[in-house]
Amino acid sequence: MKVVTTLQELRACRAELPAPVGFVPTMGYLHEGHLSLVRAARQECASVAVSIFVNPTQFGPQEDLDTYPRDLDRDLKLLRSEGVDLVWTPSREEMYPPGYQTWVTVEDLTLPLEGKVRPGHFRGVTTIVSKLFIAVQPEKAYFGQKDAQQALVIRQMVRDLNFPIEIKICPTVREPDGLALSSRNVYLNADQRKAAPVLYRALRTAQEAYQAGECDAQTLRRIVEETIAREPLARLQYVSCADLGSLQEIEGAVHSPALLSIAVFIGSTRLIDNIILDAPHDIE
Ligand code: PAF
Repeated sequence: MKVVTTLQELRACRAELPAPVGFVPTMGYLHEGHLSLVRAARQECASVAVSIFVNPTQFGPQEDLDTYPRDLDRDLKLLRSEGVDLVWTPSREEMYPPGYQTWVTVEDLTLPLEGKVRPGHFRGVTTIVSKLFIAVQPEKAYFGQKDAQQALVIRQMVRDLNFPIEIKICPTVREPDGLALSSRNVYLNADQRKAAPVLYRALRTAQEAYQAGECDAQTLRRIVEETIAREPLARLQYVSCADLGSLQEIEGAVHSPALLSIAVFIGSTRLIDNIILDAPHDIE
């Protein structure tokens, strides 16, 4: 496994990789969710490249950029054991040199949900992912359904900018109690960790109601709200039941695939999760 930092090294190593190249962009502190993306890439591609970069431009001023967990040695060990070919750990200076002023923005899809409560977040994500794509030039790139809006925004960006890259969206990986894996789970203390499965429980309760015939979007959102409200350590930031294509909030009946998604604070840790309604399987 080659580990490179500079763009020059990255380009030289990339040129040697047999196609197709599968790419997994990450911010490090890897868990089974990331590794499931790496395994999907390993299965489908001749070469696998991973980037590790905590991208400052997707964090808001009050967010956890400085405390975001990092453990490069552990990450590299994990990636080596998954048979990854190339790891790129770019520097902040090379990604955003002094005087940097070029941004990629996706419009409508980034306005609701995460975009509404984290202004500027998706501009940071789409900019860095574009830069990573341009440098790595993968044939396929892998994202998790846990960050569903991110994955849909990137798919839109790839379509709009004609990147010759297939975007693969892989299922959320969960702990046995349902908590979606996230690097931020490490912030939870023991009591908060016990409370955190309430996110998935709330989504599942609404999904079961939907499957039993309740298709009013407002009622489904209320079921989620009520489940979260019963957990004293949890505070709901938003619940959305939105059209899976446009991410516009559904008023009235759900009759096309819908994304039921939530953001919840457990103490000061912000967690997100989602589930798809009315689809035979996850987003593909
Ligand atoms: O999902 C993430 O870890 C990040 O948003 C990404 C895609 C690596 C861009 O920094």
